[in-house]
This record gives sequence, C-alpha cells and structure tokens, in this order.
Amino acid sequence: MQDPITNAKRAAGEKAASFIRPGMIVGLGTGSTAYWAIQKIGALVKDGLDIQAIATSEASAALARELKIPLTTFAETQRLDIDIDGADEVSENLDVIKGGGGALLREKIVAYHSKQLIIIADEHKYVPTLGRFPLAVEVIPFGWEATGSKLQSLGCRPLLRAKGEEIFITDNGNYIIDCSFGTIKEPQLINDALHNIPGVVETGLFVQMADKVVLGYEDGTTEVR
Ligand code: 5RP
Repeated sequence: MQDPITNAKRAAGEKAASFIRPGMIVGLGTGSTAYWAIQKIGALVKDGLDIQAIATSEASAALARELKIPLTTFAETQRLDIDIDGADEVSENLDVIKGGGGALLREKIVAYHSKQLIIIADEHKYVPTLGRFPLAVEVIPFGWEATGSKLQSLGCRPLLRAKGEEIFITDNGNYIIDCSFGTIKEPQLINDALHNIPGVVETGLFVQMADKVVLGYEDGTTEVR
C-alpha cells in the first residue's frame, strides 16, 4: 500500500510518460516524482518503445541504466523532444522552483534544449506564488562565502546546503546555497539579479520554461495544465 503522496507522484510521473512517442529523445528528470516517470519509461522500453534519453543527474542515469533505457549525450544530439522533470513548487502561470534534489544545473540545461518541458508534481506543489520553498542556487566553491553574502543582499536568507556533517556537492562539483525569499513576486527579475553575481552558476528558477504541468492527486488521478 503506497502512501497518498507517493500515489500522487506516481500518477503524475506515469501520466507524463504517456506523452512520449517512438523515436523521441527524452530528458529524464531527477527526484522522487521523476523516479516514477523513469520507471514507466523503462517499462515502455521493455515493451519495445524505441527512444533515447539524456539524464539530468548521475542518479537518474544510474536508474536508466538499471532499466535498460538507452542513454545518449549532447555529443550525439543537441535537441531533445521532451523533458519530464519534477518540481519543488509550480505557480499558477507555470513558473517553477526546482533544485531540491540538487540537480538544477543539468536539469536547466536539459530543459533549455528540449522542445517540450513537462513538469510533474504532486498537488501540494501547486502554489499561487513561488517562494515558500527555498530557492537553490548552485555556486562555485571558490569564494562561496562572498557569493552567499551577495545573495543575502538580494533579500534572501542564504544557507549552505549540507549532507550530514559534510557540504553537499553537486554532480558538477559545486555547492548549493538555499535562499529563502519568502515570496518571489517577480521570478525573472530575481533570476537575472542572481545571474549577475560572479560565482553563481545557475538558479532553480525555471521562468516560463514549462509547457505543461501534470499534477498528481492523492487519489491517483491527474490533471494536465
Ligand atoms: C531536483 C529537483 C526535483 O525535481 C525536485 O526537487 C522535486 O523532487 P521530488 O519529486 O523528489 O519532490 O529539482 O533537483
């Protein structure tokens, strides 16, 4: 018996996988919702669906290899047909906060090069305004203390992400500073301001990048917006 949130995540992930067509290059997201999409894609591949995929993290690449989903790279192809990825928050106009799992940089690269970004999320991630969830900002380790102080001057409470006693290191060898803004009324302005700070590599703000959101509900139903 699955708990209701897992039910919702699974429903969203599996529904999004139904948008994949033969021959597509597919972006594989990261996190516990993307997990269900990848599982479903693995089952479809097992049944003969012919696709190739690019994973947004080492964890998702490992899962794809386990499920025998053929992986490709940007050396082979620079355009994906569809990208299916999770979210920490989705606003009513489909702006998204990502990066809770620390994969935001590769997630944004894959999303940017995809014809279609489908965000999958349980119903509780759908919010009127972004910002309750801390915004992940990937930074270069060199000078991170100074980068963090600059982030604070933009009005957030910055916190260096840790994993147990250690500093969390991304797949790209960088750090993450989680920035609690409270409310993000103008995500594009915040994203631009963050990108102006040397040392900031990428932010978890995905402004007007999502084409669709598939919301999963605790009763196992879904809604596409
Ligand atoms: C990882 C992400 C995830 O998609 C996001 O954190 C949502 O994760 P989950 O589906 O586990 O709630 O952006 O960097």
